[in-house]
Amino acid sequence: MTRVAGRTAFITGGGSGVALGQAKIFAQAGCKVAIADIRQDHLDEAMAWFDQTDFQVMPVKLDITDRAAYAAAADAVEARLGPVELLFNTAGVSIFGPLEKATYEDWDWQLSVNLNGVINGIQTFVPRMIARGNGGHIVNTASMSAFVALKGTGIYCTTKMAIRGLSECLALDLAEHGIGVSMLCPGAVNTNIHEAVLTRPEHLRNTGYYGADPAMFAHLKKVIEVGMEPETLARYVLDGVEQDQLYILPYPEFRGTLEDIHMRVMMALARPEDDPDYEKRVAHGVPGGERRRADA
Ligand code: NAI
Repeated sequence: MTRVAGRTAFITGGGSGVALGQAKIFAQAGCKVAIADIRQDHLDEAMAWFDQTDFQVMPVKLDITDRAAYAAAADAVEARLGPVELLFNTAGVSIFGPLEKATYEDWDWQLSVNLNGVINGIQTFVPRMIARGNGGHIVNTASMSAFVALKGTGIYCTTKMAIRGLSECLALDLAEHGIGVSMLCPGAVNTNIHEAVLTRPEHLRNTGYYGADPAMFAHLKKVIEVGMEPETLARYVLDGVEQDQLYILPYPEFRGTLEDIHMRVMMALARPEDDPDYEKRVAHGVPGGERRRADA
């Protein structure tokens, strides 16, 4: 999408952190912006900032796991700001610890927000974008965890690797409709994600890890407070949307790790000369060959 000015953006998690940075930068670039968040205090703080500006910004209280509420929020935003042509699936939560200690509720909470919340955004807005025929762009915020498995990040990593598959397939499916897809993969960002458990719903409260523990919050904050500032990150996203980049990967410190991962995968992958059935499968258009053609 070469021109974002004048378009309407719907940004989940927009009251804080990465998403708030996106809201500021895209508003500065001339977008009308809806910020959707489950935390009213985050929306209020964000609006206190936007109210000092001339930007057209609409706050929406929304739990992205609630499909009916999501559709109602989309209707309300489009009635006030016009058709949404930029969707930012940014809201996400995290809780860390070894997989063997996880409860079903730990799984369900993170999957419901980090994966189902993104699916709900796509299900809500993609049919509207296609029907209007004006194109658009979707930015899914994953993480470097979409590529890199780290000890103790199992549930979070599962959700973010899923976002990678979803984003790559969505880009292939939506290209013919003029809708671009980007996957943003941050490393550390200086946000409020250390407080994520505060948004955990009551029915998923049972955890094998930790609750709203100030010592844990302080520990987690130390890890991310040296991270990139959200507005700096959002400028990479603006470039990525304008240049229709599938991968937005602004963290050079991961180069060595990613080279290592891809090298190990290539070392494990069989070679044609070792498989007598290879030629037969390729001649019949196996999925590997199909993907190569789609990329060509
Ligand atoms: P944050 O906690 O500052 O912002 C997330 C916002 O999402 C909060 O305002 C929160 O209230 C909202 N939210 C949580 N659950 C929600 C729900 N069910 N419905 C609607 N809103 C909800 O955290 P941050 O860091 O800005 O996180 C944004 C995204 O960035 C997440 O997807 C996260 O996984 C990703 N990310 C963050 C990194 C970091 O170091 N902070 C690193 C890599 C990825």
